[in-house]
Amino acid sequence: MNALDLSRLRPRLPSPLEPVEDERFARRGLTLLLKRDDLIHPDLPGNKWRKLALNLRAADGRPVLTFGGAYSNHLRATAAAGRLLGFPTVGIVRGDELAGRPLNPSLARCAADGMRLEFVDRTTYRAKNDPATLAKLLERAPAGAYVVPEGGSNELAVQGCEALGRELSGAADTVAVACGTGGTLAGLAAGLAPGQRALGVPVLKGGFLGGEVRALQEAAFGGPRGDWALDDRFHCGGYARTSPALEAFARDFEARHGLAVERLYVAKMLYGLVTLAEEGAFPAGSRVAAVVTGAPEPADPVRL
Ligand SMILES: Cc1ncc(COP(=O)(O)O)c(C=O)c1O
Repeated sequence: MNALDLSRLRPRLPSPLEPVEDERFARRGLTLLLKRDDLIHPDLPGNKWRKLALNLRAADGRPVLTFGGAYSNHLRATAAAGRLLGFPTVGIVRGDELAGRPLNPSLARCAADGMRLEFVDRTTYRAKNDPATLAKLLERAPAGAYVVPEGGSNELAVQGCEALGRELSGAADTVAVACGTGGTLAGLAAGLAPGQRALGVPVLKGGFLGGEVRALQEAAFGGPRGDWALDDRFHCGGYARTSPALEAFARDFEARHGLAVERLYVAKMLYGLVTLAEEGAFPAGSRVAAVVTGAPEPADPVRL
């Protein structure tokens, strides 16, 4: 199969935009819409498709080398793309202590999809963008490998996410998205029409993301684009951390709307959005869209 021909994977694009009845929005005169990017493709859902599409075209069938932690959605999506489109993949995994242990379900999926996993110590992992370290990693990879950074966020990924904004053009006043590296937000904001605003909800602690989003937009578009802001209050302690309140919120959202809520990113964004609606942050009459950037793991217990 030709790696250029991603249309053979039959992505559901544009992804559906669904209005949902939610009294917490309705009582303030707001409309809540769900942008169902989780339905784009079963193996490359949400922002994984949007970030990988232009990169895979650029890789043009060459082996793809990328990076992630032991539970990385990005590693899994890259491995699946390699299997579906027929190119080799290498995953550099943070943590050499994992090397001798049985693979967790996420990494087992990567391996089953043909990804060659290489476990590196944390110092090497941190230095992965340093040219000498990267050159060493590439020496062990198949010749001519195309490198995609951790989380998949590079210029092409950000440009790919611009299409998400264009699909929402004119359809909402505020569009909320969960942020890890900020690449999805950087592209989304660029694709929205004037008068629309993107709201990023970081799932990591640290308050560093504004600079990252600006840098990603500079690299992808040559300067700032669109109207965007961050609300740093909803990380619940940091990446993969949760709280009883967040878990209760996510279960309740699932029961109300029949949508399985991915916990690491999507739950925090929805929690932030409902809190903001209840704080009166959006003027009456506003349409508020939430981007569903991913789906829970099929192996997760089904809570519906
Ligand atoms: C489900 C989901 N939503 C949101 C994000 C955040 O994306 P970004 O790193 O572009 O900010 C990720 C990470 O890639 C993700 O897996």
